[in-house]
Amino acid sequence: MIVSGSTSQSLAATLATELDEPLAVVEQTAFPDGESKFAIDAPGERTLADVDRAVIVASTTTADAHLEVLQLQDAAREAGIDEVVTVLPYMGYGRQDRAFETGEPVTARAIARALSPGTDRVLTVTPHEPAVCDFFDPPATQIDAEALLAEPLRSDPDPALDEPLFLSPDAGAIDVAETVRDAFGSGEVDHFEKTRTSGTEVTIEPGNAEIAGRDVVVVDDIVATGSTMSQSIEVLQDRDVGRVFVGCVHPLLARDARSKLARAGVEAIHATDTIERLVSTVSAAPAIAEEL
Ligand code: R5P
Repeated sequence: MIVSGSTSQSLAATLATELDEPLAVVEQTAFPDGESKFAIDAPGERTLADVDRAVIVASTTTADAHLEVLQLQDAAREAGIDEVVTVLPYMGYGRQDRAFETGEPVTARAIARALSPGTDRVLTVTPHEPAVCDFFDPPATQIDAEALLAEPLRSDPDPALDEPLFLSPDAGAIDVAETVRDAFGSGEVDHFEKTRTSGTEVTIEPGNAEIAGRDVVVVDDIVATGSTMSQSIEVLQDRDVGRVFVGCVHPLLARDARSKLARAGVEAIHATDTIERLVSTVSAAPAIAEEL
């Protein structure tokens, strides 16, 4: 049975169809003091006693979403379901994977420790650092969804992309660009040099590849504030680029990120449904289903 967190309802429904598994009924109650309760039930004529496995699917994009996963896990355990699997399509706080200064928490580890007792297995899609999987006590598996981003790049652009340049905003994300290029089938790969100057500001220096008049796909694991991506696009526009497409696994698109990309002159954004936004046209469900 697939149990959907409120952040991942489309992805959970697609996964249920993909696996031909029922979709749980999740009832949310809010108490007058603001506390919430998420209760689960089996759909139709089934009862929870008929369920062998609960697959909780919830991107932890907010503090409330974390609390919801904890409750869904506990509800499944309380109902005596044999196996509880927790799928974090997007693991929030995953980028805080080390303490940069004395006194800072390793928040990704703290979150993983909190989620571990309630589950027998964890799956997470394209974590910023694969090492976050080691923070969980039960087995945790990384699912790579980058290759799925090639599909709309093959089918949508009109005219079609011809030998595009795949660029990552920094050297660290070049694997993501290479994976998308390989899945697309052709094109060159390069990267910018990015320096982060604050939580919302970055400086981007161009790479060596020829840009003028060329179609470029800028690929990253996540677009959060959109600073990295919009500045990358602006650098390309300064060099008379052709069309600029953006591909990202996790379209967090916080604050005015979508507007920043539009102002910078993006042609189209292609993202997966690990975070459900208007640009989430590619489903990660087939990649997740393969691991289940
Ligand atoms: C960082 O290394 C990541 O790969 C992304 O480039 C970054 O998280 C994007 O953040 P923002 O959209 O806030 O610039």
